[in-house]
Amino acid sequence: MVAGNWKMNKNLQEGIALATELKNNVKNPACAVVIGTPFIHLASVAEVLKGSPIQLAAENCADKDKGAYTGEVSAEMVRSTGAQYCILGHSERRAYYHETPEILKEKVGLALANGLKVIFCIGEVKEEREAGTQNAVVKAQLDGSVFHLTAEEWKNIVLAYEPVWAIGTGLTATPDQAEDMHRYIRSLVAEKYGQQVAGETTILYGGSCNEKNAAELFSNEDVDGGLIGGASLVADKFCAIIEARNNA
Ligand code: 13P
Repeated sequence: MVAGNWKMNKNLQEGIALATELKNNVKNPACAVVIGTPFIHLASVAEVLKGSPIQLAAENCADKDKGAYTGEVSAEMVRSTGAQYCILGHSERRAYYHETPEILKEKVGLALANGLKVIFCIGEVKEEREAGTQNAVVKAQLDGSVFHLTAEEWKNIVLAYEPVWAIGTGLTATPDQAEDMHRYIRSLVAEKYGQQVAGETTILYGGSCNEKNAAELFSNEDVDGGLIGGASLVADKFCAIIEARNNA
């Protein structure tokens, strides 16, 4: 899978233009392609993507089912736009909006209950990597929010390893650092759900992944694709990353 995460970029018209360009350029990808857009784009972009293999993700959803939560957007609302995925647990949500493992567990449950697949992000900050605690950090993130799921529910989970120190910094994890962590994550999934499920789990890498380094990152056995921020905002770059995945 190659998934884009537009974050808080692109107004509605710009978003529709980018989605249209992607639709015109991505006809027969050999991997799943997903674009994550702001809430306000979802319904319009879903319309643009009709008949396209590109799938659509929200970048968040509420931790409540429905009701008096001014300004929030529920998983059911996301699903009603035609989106198939929801990105949850992104480090920016954890850091700036104080989303705890418990809150994320609620969101994951609601997303799955409403028929959305979840791209669940995990990853350590720079100090944790420097202290050598990255494995424990990632394990705790999985234990806290998704490892309670049944094997059946797990089929709708995609993991994205995004080392926080690599996001938007131009500092990419080396292919070895990415592969080491992805292999570790897969081993944790195997402990929980068995070898076969672990083998079928998609584990994406995110963090300054771009059209230049994607092929090398994707050449690792346990790196199944990417979750792309900055480079997903330019159609040519995003398409080149899809191409790199197709050729991996
Ligand atoms: P960048 O690709 O801009 O580093 O962002 C990665 C990311 O956070 C994707 O979710």
